[in-house]
Amino acid sequence: MSKAVEKQIEDLRETIRHHEYLYYGLDAPEISDADFDLLMRELKSLEAEHPELITPDSPTQRVGGKPKEGFAKVAHSRPMLSLDNVNSEDELRDWDRRVREAAGANADIGYVCEYKLDGLSMALHYEQSSSGSVLARGLTRGDGTIGEDVTGNVRTIRSVPLSISATRLKKAKLPGNFEVRGEVVMPIKAFFKMNEERESQGLSAAANPRNAAAGTIRTLEPNIVAQRRLDFYGYFALTPDGVNLFEEQSEALEALSDAGFRVNPHREAIKSFDKLMEYINRAEEKRNDLGYEIDGVVVKVDSAQLQRRLGYTGRAPRWAVAYKFTARAGVTQVEDVRVQVGRTGKLTPVAVLTPVQIGGTTVGRATLHNADEIERLGLLIGDYVSVERGGDVIPKIVSVVEDKDHPRGHKKFHFPTHCPVCGSDIVKTEGEVDYRCVNIDCPARLLESLLHFASRKVMNIEGLGEAVVTQLLESGRVRSIADLYHLDVETLAAEKKTDKKTSTGKDILVGELVARQIFAEIEQSKKNPLHRVLFGLGIRFVGERTAQLLAEEFGSMDALMAAPVEELERVNEVGPRVAQAIREFFDEEKNVALVEKLRKAGLTFTAEKRRKSSELEGLTFVLTGTLPNLSREDAKAKIESAGGRVSGSVSKKTNYVVAGEEAGSKLDKARDLGVKVVDEAGLLDLLTK
Ligand code: IVH
Repeated sequence: MSKAVEKQIEDLRETIRHHEYLYYGLDAPEISDADFDLLMRELKSLEAEHPELITPDSPTQRVGGKPKEGFAKVAHSRPMLSLDNVNSEDELRDWDRRVREAAGANADIGYVCEYKLDGLSMALHYEQSSSGSVLARGLTRGDGTIGEDVTGNVRTIRSVPLSISATRLKKAKLPGNFEVRGEVVMPIKAFFKMNEERESQGLSAAANPRNAAAGTIRTLEPNIVAQRRLDFYGYFALTPDGVNLFEEQSEALEALSDAGFRVNPHREAIKSFDKLMEYINRAEEKRNDLGYEIDGVVVKVDSAQLQRRLGYTGRAPRWAVAYKFTARAGVTQVEDVRVQVGRTGKLTPVAVLTPVQIGGTTVGRATLHNADEIERLGLLIGDYVSVERGGDVIPKIVSVVEDKDHPRGHKKFHFPTHCPVCGSDIVKTEGEVDYRCVNIDCPARLLESLLHFASRKVMNIEGLGEAVVTQLLESGRVRSIADLYHLDVETLAAEKKTDKKTSTGKDILVGELVARQIFAEIEQSKKNPLHRVLFGLGIRFVGERTAQLLAEEFGSMDALMAAPVEELERVNEVGPRVAQAIREFFDEEKNVALVEKLRKAGLTFTAEKRRKSSELEGLTFVLTGTLPNLSREDAKAKIESAGGRVSGSVSKKTNYVVAGEEAGSKLDKARDLGVKVVDEAGLLDLLTK
């Protein structure tokens, strides 16, 4: 192996790590995303040519195999405690006084203030390596004493360095073996994106970014974790035995930042009580503009020596405290409960509230999620409820309020036994909490399906909003998405707004000009690529990304429609549940008829298939050991469909040995004969080259 290539690869990795640090660690990128992608692509292709040079800390190796049987339990070096809370200036003053008393009269006391990030705490263990230090383990807090090993998922977080060079360690004054503790959070943007994606798949949305982050980190699919943006902010640096590495908290934060970790930039060293309160007030003001959730401020005694003197109560340190912001909550009355029917037929109860101001926005509605939630709250119509903007985002009813100013309501809400829109039966699938309307022609579902189809991320038909679509449905001119393609300008312009009370119908909803525009938009939408059409069909679990993968993999609507479940499952990221849903959709006659109408209308039904590697043509592979994601059969099918051959025994003629866990004698033989060895990720890279 030429040393030059080895050096080229290592240099490229260092460059990429540097830009990852600028982007994810400091939030201050110096190159464009496109240029960053170019660097990554270059590294990937070099590594595919020289798979033997792939190291686990390469930036290309963030996504690895999934743990087979859940997460292993691992004991923490020292317990991960929580903090005592204070909720007011007076309580904080009491805490400050206790610290000063314990420190003695002449002590010079300094605090460090940090934001209290609303995520989940995490311990990262780094171990000495030949070139510095590498990430060895990531553990959740668990019960505080024993955490769960979620290393595979933590590796996908871009603000977690997979390795730290000796130079950086030296600059940060960190040893090779150490532990970092900090918080994993999901930025609000990523949270919205995740919920949008989940909803487009007919799945329930996460209530707040903290739940979303916690759920994501415990997902058994590292590639799913990698698609969602999580961030890690470090706040403690410890020895492997759990002892403070630095004599001052402020020093620890600087060191972590120097080592390449993201550290909250709003940290501040503060001496006086008044300045503490100023910091807290400023933080509360900034709270809405941060892009991630915080629920308070953590005040820590800066000196580790004083920390030791103060010690711990049972479950929390005496040297730190969490000042919790008051929840942005309000009390208001539930005027009614309505049930909405979504695109997938899901029935969602929504509370109609007397509008109330909470943290600067007017809240007039709050989701009640499902029948179980109403039961849990014991909610009656007319009740006063406490509404919180949970995690700043979606208003949530926390509890029913009852006191002399807030009498209980009277009317019990009965969850409908039939669809409130079309009257059809509703069903609840075993193991699910939601009821669904069984009628695929339900007007509510149709309305939502049409709106979804026309929406920006799908067919992007501007002008087809709720008012126009409702009109088109009510007048019977449109009964399915295919009917949109039979509308002409005259029909569109003839849509009238009928006043329900007087049934006059004089106002024309869309004038001729608008009608022309909508018509042009519909025409234009025929050119949209196949994956948008697939996303628009509203197949359960098929969101934007899955639609894209399906279009690339099958190359045409016909190939997809004909694919048996096993073939569908072979697509990356498509599991049995998704495959089943796709098959069921295309087995339904009505859906096939709809697709045929769309074909006749001239929509795009073909896509460019992902180019299969011709490099594999004539190459021989041997599989050994258990691969983390792919079964033997899957790996074999993938290799063969790319033109390669799979053989049972290793010889000089073997081009690659694909080795998984517990690979045995075949791996030894490959090494003896100098045959190239790759892991599953390496194989996938060869396949996508
Ligand atoms: S210090 C014993 N610093 O808040 C030390 N915690 O209620 C406890 N948190 O479990 C951790 N931001 O998950 C610390 N800057 C910060 C924090 C922070 C968020 C979380 C952490 C902890 C919880 C304690």
